[in-house]
Amino acid sequence: MDKLLIEGGVRLAGEAAISGAKNAALPILCAALLTREPMTFTNVPQLNDIDTLLNLLGQMGVKVSRDNAMVTLDASAIDNPVAPYEMVKTMRASILVLGPLVARCGEARVSLPGGCAIGARPVDQHIKGLQAMGAQVTVEHGYVHAVVPRLAGARLFTDMVTVTGTENLMMAACLADGETVIENAAREPEIVDLANCLVAMGARISGAGTDVIRIRGVDRLNGATHRIMPDRIETGTYLCAAAATGGEIRLTRTSTAYLDAVVDKLMDAGCDVVAERDAIRLKAPARLTSVNIRTSPYPAFPTDMQAQFMAINAVASGAAMIRETIFENRFMHAVELQRLGADIRIDGNTAVVQGVERLQGATVMATDLRASASLVIAGLVAEGETVIERIYHLDRGYERLEEKLAALGAHVRRVA
Ligand code: UD1
Repeated sequence: MDKLLIEGGVRLAGEAAISGAKNAALPILCAALLTREPMTFTNVPQLNDIDTLLNLLGQMGVKVSRDNAMVTLDASAIDNPVAPYEMVKTMRASILVLGPLVARCGEARVSLPGGCAIGARPVDQHIKGLQAMGAQVTVEHGYVHAVVPRLAGARLFTDMVTVTGTENLMMAACLADGETVIENAAREPEIVDLANCLVAMGARISGAGTDVIRIRGVDRLNGATHRIMPDRIETGTYLCAAAATGGEIRLTRTSTAYLDAVVDKLMDAGCDVVAERDAIRLKAPARLTSVNIRTSPYPAFPTDMQAQFMAINAVASGAAMIRETIFENRFMHAVELQRLGADIRIDGNTAVVQGVERLQGATVMATDLRASASLVIAGLVAEGETVIERIYHLDRGYERLEEKLAALGAHVRRVA
């Protein structure tokens, strides 16, 4: 299994380009299931999660072709509307095929995602929404089986704000008979990107980006070309890496547009952040000031940036409180950060981080995608060598990580 070796203590400086957003690409590629016409996507990141989804779509009968960041999908024939356990278990976002498959084929069998390292992540809201639209849904042998001749528009209300739940239901509603209203919808920018793609395909959607989305169903959707938005979490992660090392960087092909909560915290921590057209500059002080964090659905501070801020607080001056309100078990990186010398106390969904002068390199283990990112940041500031094991988590969500870090001056090496 590959490991990442980081020789810490180098101030990051220079320029790196941000890739397309994983969390936008996953639902948007699934949207291709809604049309018989070919779809072309650009700025698709080359990540393991994207490969997993393309394999999943391929085994359903979708013709997949790929040329670097460009992906063409032709779902003219779907001969097997099934998402098997072996594929879904490695990536929870596979559940995103459920809504489009039911809407297009009238039937779908999708494995339940099961447990996940960052806590129980049920899909009850996805199921409840499809049932409200008339689908007969049973859960048997670990599979969600949904059947309906044609979905009917309905008024939907999700019990909590769910990102993929909103996306699944929005896609399903595009081909339903009549109007669907999703209340308590997630407002994440990736939902707006998905809605833009669906509208280009002929869908009639209003309100994406607010908590009430209206979709007027149509009989069919057409093919389209769509460029995936920049990855705001990858952007935030590099900003944190530069901030923690006292660095000065410029990130291109991205923007601060969807990063207000993160940029605000970086400025509170003492960084200068300048928004340019399609680029961001950050200049960090020699030592950061710690900042309190509370995760919440967009536009508040994203849970996917919580671990990275724990790493920067670990070396900042002062103490900070981090509250995780989205997932119940998302502090696994804390024990690994402690191995590097961080002073962190956990009490339920709250972590208290007392900044220390320095971290020391050690061997640590990545436990999930964003936890891994926090270990990389800590490794970049730690004295000596940090070895990060199980970096397959990083490969799920960060495109050419060590290449981009090396371009910023970091001493990073992948070893088998
Ligand atoms: C998405 C993102 C993930 C991010 C998360 C929160 C993708 C592919 N993944 O995950 O990176 O961390 O949003 O911003 O976009 N819940 C239920 N029942 C449901 C659905 C959700 O109880 O049917 C709960 C979850 O357990 C969690 C909360 O709702 O506690 C929010 O989860 P959700 O927004 O659905 O996360 P994902 O869409 O899986």
